Amino acid sequence: MGAQPRVFVTRRLPGSALERLEAAHDVEVWPGRTPPPRAELLARAPALDGLLSLLTDPVDAELIEAAPNLRAISNYAVGVDNVDLEAAAARGIPVGNTPDVLTESTADLALALMLGIARRLAEGEAFVKAGEWVTWEPGLMLGRDLHGATVGIVGYGRIGQAVGRRLQGFGCAVVANTRDGGVSLEELLERSDFVTLHCPLTPQTRGLIDAEALSRMKPTAYLVNTSRGPVVDTGALADALHAGELAGAALDVTDPEPLPADHPLLDAPNLLVVPHIASATHATRGRMADIAVDNLLAGLAGEPMPHSVTHRAP
Ligand code: DGY
Repeated sequence: MGAQPRVFVTRRLPGSALERLEAAHDVEVWPGRTPPPRAELLARAPALDGLLSLLTDPVDAELIEAAPNLRAISNYAVGVDNVDLEAAAARGIPVGNTPDVLTESTADLALALMLGIARRLAEGEAFVKAGEWVTWEPGLMLGRDLHGATVGIVGYGRIGQAVGRRLQGFGCAVVANTRDGGVSLEELLERSDFVTLHCPLTPQTRGLIDAEALSRMKPTAYLVNTSRGPVVDTGALADALHAGELAGAALDVTDPEPLPADHPLLDAPNLLVVPHIASATHATRGRMADIAVDNLLAGLAGEPMPHSVTHRAP
């Protein structure tokens, strides 16, 4: 019998899915809370048959080249912007991702962010905990309604559509902008009371929401991002918030990530920010682990991955 394929998993995953991988293969799981340093990844690469990566691990051409036996890459995320798909395709290495299972959880969080920023939840909680709540006041912490609002959804794929379904229940008017149609981005920005981003990070969407885009938004509108941080120009957003050019922003994702505690964006007013947790429910992160393991097992067996990303030339 030949040696078992060697697999590196860049972080312990929730649930029991890794046990199935460990039963079938020679698996090393990075024990740290933070990603394995680049040097550690590169040091393991020559021996690897399979890699289970996270969105925090750059799986670039250099790493792929350093792993001549690599036969399968499974990314524990639906987004694969951390993987050089072209370099993987050039070597015939399938790349797996974890779509579908996180759609509804991500859409839930997008709604939570819309409500959280527009109804000033974090601010209200801080106010109460600081002992500043003196009495009921007619003008205290006035926000804006989500119900009946016009919501612009940028990227109308699985998650964008799941957000749209939820917004129907709020009586919102939904306008969408997609790669293949819908309203123009300009029109969406100008009409919407909330703009919510659900597009993947690609060369085309990097910096999509820049100073010019932000200037098209109503001063009463909110920006919500649960896609990828670099879709928004961080500096331009901070400037727009400081200048009162929009009512607020609610971010699950930022650029950079993590956002250091002394980052200038955190000084901006009307900002709600959480640490990239849109898919972070027990059930969803467990299902993502199952799919990531299924993808890797299939790839190592030379079978089609249940969920793989086929590289398309830009
Ligand atoms: C993804 O899957 O791409 C999310 O950002 C994390 O679940």
